[in-house]
Amino acid sequence: MLKDKTILLGITGGIAAYKSAELARLLIKEGAAVQVVMTANAEAFITPLTMRTLTGRPVYSSLFNPSYGSATVHIDLAREPHMVVVAPATANFLGKIAAGIADDLLSTVLLAVNLKERPVILAPSMNTVMFHNAAVRENIELLRKRGYIFADPLAGVLACGDVGEGRMVEPAQLLQLIKDKFPAREDYGGLTVLVTAGPTRELLDPVRFFSNHSSGRMGYALARAARERGARVLLISGPTALEPPPGVEFHPVVSAREMYDVVMDKLFLADVIIKTAAVADYRPEETYSQKIKKGGDLLVRLVRNPDILQELGSRKGNYILVGFAAETENLLNNAHKKLAAKNLDLIVANDLTEEGAGFTYETNKVNLLYRDGHVEELPLMTKYELAHLILERIKIII
Ligand code: C5P
Repeated sequence: MLKDKTILLGITGGIAAYKSAELARLLIKEGAAVQVVMTANAEAFITPLTMRTLTGRPVYSSLFNPSYGSATVHIDLAREPHMVVVAPATANFLGKIAAGIADDLLSTVLLAVNLKERPVILAPSMNTVMFHNAAVRENIELLRKRGYIFADPLAGVLACGDVGEGRMVEPAQLLQLIKDKFPAREDYGGLTVLVTAGPTRELLDPVRFFSNHSSGRMGYALARAARERGARVLLISGPTALEPPPGVEFHPVVSAREMYDVVMDKLFLADVIIKTAAVADYRPEETYSQKIKKGGDLLVRLVRNPDILQELGSRKGNYILVGFAAETENLLNNAHKKLAAKNLDLIVANDLTEEGAGFTYETNKVNLLYRDGHVEELPLMTKYELAHLILERIKIII
């Protein structure tokens, strides 16, 4: 199941460190390669020799150790794994990651991990009063919003004798969580998924345009996830600051009309079309060829852009059509109307007023509305996790 996967297992200084030895054993049994990085305090609880013997790999713990061979060991370690798991993660460690402090090897590696490319799971373990301390709560919430995944601790008898939340999850549960984050199979092999992403820009003159806050993150996460599941992926994107995911066919566009043209051109290839793009509904009727000089008031008349999704719905061929609805009011009502009006199979309804949801976040909180009227309310999760979940649901419809 975890064959060909490398997991970086970070261990910090808590009594639950002994459970990490069992976790390493379980991961290896599943076929994963496990690379251990320990903090100095972790070595007070469990020895590097134990972890080295279990994993068959040298254990790293120091930022500056000439015997490691590489002068940039923190970057090498951050780039190699498919996933990072820190178990146990102490209150101190969570605080450091939340604050961006990199004062030892493990915290430096964590800072160097690109969260968009590999998930990071944190398994807190601490006394229950510490776990409920306002500083720790805030750090955890902040990290969740940034896209870290938490293996929430359990309630029970703690090492200090207190009873309450704070026990690290058991290795078997952590293993299940890790396995759930990897797609089970290449279930999109042979299928083509067309994704539109980002905002569009509607030019007024050579230096000015109308646009919106769309970051493109949701669409890029979908493109990445579909590719990972074996699909051929066409990503048609307005201007964003993001790198296209590896292996996707990338078609950059600027305006809604350009996006319309490329979508219509590629339509015949697609088995699934997912329209995450925040297409501008209006564009200036007139585009000036020279920069507009300031003078008196300027009246700009806006005219309607083509609604690409509407057009796709009305032509509906053999493709599955998925839309997004970003709303600030009457979310479900408006999303239901759009699903019907645009003839969609599924609509992902985004409440822009929800904390952690919408344009600029790494996370999202949405409802999925299906053609048969069924509504699925989902918890807050990273856009990457949501992308996989959406693809799983689409696969059931296909
Ligand atoms: O009606 P509304 O614009 O809120 O619908 C959003 C959905 O419609 C999104 O999936 C978006 O990509 C798509 N859309 C489009 N062309 C437009 C406007 C929206 O494809 N001109």
